Amino acid sequence: MAEAGDIGTALLGKLGCDDVRLRLSRSYSPDTSLWRVAAYRFDVLAGDEPAGTISLRPGASYLLTHLAGQIGFSIEPACRGRGLAGKAVKALLPLAKACGLTELWLTTTPDNLASRRTLERLGCALVEEVTIPEDYESYARGERLKLRYRLELG
Ligand SMILES: CC(C)(COP(=O)(O)OP(=O)(O)OC[C@H]1O[C@@H](n2cnc3c(N)ncnc32)[C@H](O)[C@@H]1OP(=O)(O)O)[C@@H](O)C(=O)NCCC(=O)NCCS
Repeated sequence: MAEAGDIGTALLGKLGCDDVRLRLSRSYSPDTSLWRVAAYRFDVLAGDEPAGTISLRPGASYLLTHLAGQIGFSIEPACRGRGLAGKAVKALLPLAKACGLTELWLTTTPDNLASRRTLERLGCALVEEVTIPEDYESYARGERLKLRYRLELG
């Protein structure tokens, strides 16, 4: 898998989809990343307005492919309702491919209907439910199940 330093700054600087643009806020080396892989965090800009964040963690550990997911996103409450998370994921796909991924694993919880709908509209396939182990961070917040989705990158 490609390392952070291998990805061209030109690609990192031009990620966008429709009216959404991604602005790199932080890149992590495997040594500094919580996920032990090179990872990227972006601000999601709608026009010029900061509307949320999205991260790509292109690793193949169980933690990433079954629990945390290789992409994480969040949209500010005031900016929700415009499908921005889906556009941000689409904007990130060229980077995922440049990192060597041929499929993406994304996860959410059964009660997160906005996230589930976002993934379904992107064409992600629901593959399975995964039981959250007691030592995973969200277990303490009461989460017990993850839904695991796959997006083919084609
Ligand atoms: C998940 C999240 C990023 C989606 O934000 P968004 O892009 O603004 O999503 P939208 O509000 O446009 O909703 C996307 C779709 O879900 C639907 N939806 C939203 N809330 C819903 C609900 N409570 N019940 C059912 N459907 C819902 C919308 O109608 C829309 O469907 P449509 O495209 O068919 O119209 C946002 O809710 C968020 O930041 N939540 C907190 C962080 C989070 O959960 N991140 C994901 C972790 S896996």
